Amino acid sequence: MRGVGVLRGTRWILRDVDWSVEPMQHWVVIGANGAGKSTLMDLAAARSFPSVGQVTALDEVLGEVDLAELRQRIGFASSVAAQLIDDAEHVIDVVRTAAHGMSGSWQETYDRTDDLRARDLLQRWGVDSLAKKEFARLSEGERKRVLIARALMSDPELLILDEPGASLDLAGREDLVARLDAFAKGADSPSMVLVTHHVEEIPPSFTHALVLRDGAVLALGPIGQVMTSPILSEAFAIPLLVQCVDGRYTARSTSS
Ligand SMILES: Nc1ncnc2c1ncn2[C@@H]1O[C@H](COP(=O)(O)OP(=O)(O)OP(=O)(O)O)[C@@H](O)[C@H]1O
Ligand SMILES: [Mg+2]
Repeated sequence: MRGVGVLRGTRWILRDVDWSVEPMQHWVVIGANGAGKSTLMDLAAARSFPSVGQVTALDEVLGEVDLAELRQRIGFASSVAAQLIDDAEHVIDVVRTAAHGMSGSWQETYDRTDDLRARDLLQRWGVDSLAKKEFARLSEGERKRVLIARALMSDPELLILDEPGASLDLAGREDLVARLDAFAKGADSPSMVLVTHHVEEIPPSFTHALVLRDGAVLALGPIGQVMTSPILSEAFAIPLLVQCVDGRYTARSTSS
């Protein structure tokens, strides 16, 4: 992204964003509610256009390419995308349909390869036993894992996860962090961007961080230089002590 801004109504909800994600890098994007994280991810995932500046995704400039084709190369999971899934759809179809960039099992006939890949992804994310279940009947933790499997169905070169840990319980969060960590370490893993509010959700193998505040980049770079007490205190507007043990971060208020 070069000089990227997003104007909604009379308000700039993103301003002056210069950011680049290189192959093999795994980024965490962190910031308070309303900081502009999801707006930034929509741009990165080629789901929307900037009001100013230029977004280049996988060497293609947004606005100059066929968006449908580009989106196939970018895996994206978010709660907004999840809302578009039909409640009655079976888990296996939620994943399988992503091979063709659409949801709804009736729209495509699948070949055997798609079917095997969808089942393999469900197994890798520990939800293969749910293949025949209706998506609406899953727990929040199960749903998050199915959505990641779905985002990976088209074998994307870039994977963007907007708050995959939201509303998970402690065991669910730890399971997700471990799975994301293992996946990110894999030799064939795509570049990744993970949005979170909670430093505890950052997998140890993540390499870089971008901190957003009020629509602007407060800090970005190698994770150890960015996930610091002064920077996160400023981002969340409270005094925080940020610590890292064995690659896992914690943050707590020092104001009490
Ligand atoms: N279409 C829109 N029109 C007007 N304002 C918008 C629009 N989309 C987002 N906003 C505003 O822009 C700001 C950033 O929103 P965004 O969803 O990107 O934040 P976020 O960092 O993802 O927040 P959260 O942590 O709560 O998910 C918010 O104040 C939001 O109300
Ligand atoms: Mg958001």
